[in-house]
Amino acid sequence: MNNNYLELYKKYFIPSYEPVNFVPTHGHGSHLYNGDNVDLIDFAGGVAATALGQTNELLIEALTKQANQLWHVGNIFTNLPQLELAQKLIENTCFDKVFFSNCGTEAVEAALKLAKRYALKTYGDQKCEIVAFNNAFHGRTLLSVSTGGQAKYRNGFEPLPLAIKHAPFNQLNGLEDLITSNTAAVILEPIQAEGGVIPAKLEFLQKIRELCDLHHVALIFDEVQTGMGRTGSLFAYIQYGVEPDIIAVAKALANGFPIGATLAKEPFTSGFEFASHGATFGGNPLSCAVANKTFDIINNKDFLNAVSAKHKLLVDELYKINQKLDLYCDIRGKGLIVGAELHDKYKGNAYKLVHIAIKHRVSVLNASPNVTRFLPALNIPEADIKEGMKRLANALVEFKQLLA
Ligand SMILES: Cc1ncc(COP(=O)(O)O)c(C=O)c1O
Repeated sequence: MNNNYLELYKKYFIPSYEPVNFVPTHGHGSHLYNGDNVDLIDFAGGVAATALGQTNELLIEALTKQANQLWHVGNIFTNLPQLELAQKLIENTCFDKVFFSNCGTEAVEAALKLAKRYALKTYGDQKCEIVAFNNAFHGRTLLSVSTGGQAKYRNGFEPLPLAIKHAPFNQLNGLEDLITSNTAAVILEPIQAEGGVIPAKLEFLQKIRELCDLHHVALIFDEVQTGMGRTGSLFAYIQYGVEPDIIAVAKALANGFPIGATLAKEPFTSGFEFASHGATFGGNPLSCAVANKTFDIINNKDFLNAVSAKHKLLVDELYKINQKLDLYCDIRGKGLIVGAELHDKYKGNAYKLVHIAIKHRVSVLNASPNVTRFLPALNIPEADIKEGMKRLANALVEFKQLLA
């Protein structure tokens, strides 16, 4: 294999991503290293997945212990790590039952299918509509791109599944006409992540909860990105005090080891029966063993309080940089999901910064073309936040010069 990795990538991969010019070969905590041992401070956290950073010793121990016992058995068997994880998830949330899959998209897909099947079985064919919101992101299957509220992910995949309505996020006006007795499910992200780090207004969630109760509609929260401590509570719904009926979880559930989970309350759980749905690798012993340890570490009051404290540090540092450079018009988010929105003058260029930042040895993300997004490990040390922000300041100087 030659070591011009990006050339190899272009040659062999169906185009879909544009990897940056840094190929991580190893990592520790919030640092990624390439083959030359150049380090990068990671504010992207594997897109909200590596909540406990790289090579966490406790997780390595859990994974290797399980790797020496049992890898995969398929769903004619249950297994001990999945039973343990199911118990943890259910006993620490408002939900009654779980279905395991492999990623966020699958967790969303199972949530929508469960809600639709429950509605159809209980109330008949006409209760089939899904209500979703503009700008949302729910994954990449045909059903999830259709449910998501961003045309760029749907274009070219038509015809799309029918009976999905979209409405403006955070707008209370019109909700009564949107959520009716024909609605099977309403799906939303409590903080629209990919769409620009836009937190839902409490009144918006409360109104939707009220209408879902009135019309016997399953309210689904997609907490693939906001779940597992990201906002400073185990799930964002806990912070809002608004309980969904179904929740989709993935990403940080096993710290980047592939897993998805759909948790649901009664009576929506009865949407599925034997063979209604399935996933060969869903609930496999390896990912569940890692998830069990991840869950124990994150589901701890002190740990979660520290996430909120780190929010303050990260945002304070960002404000200081912005006072000098005046690139951002808004800095927002909860816990360690933070978005900084570019001034009109710089709009459309957030992705450019992702690449420039790598040159300055710090990794950030965009969210929409206008927002810089931060999703560092939840246990990132304060010193790494400060050092990463120093590097980001240099990257932002270059960004500003480029766009002058
Ligand atoms: C809110 C949300 N839902 C669903 C998904 C899809 O998850 P995955 O890429 O694991 O399939 C993502 C991924 O970014 C997400 O942020």
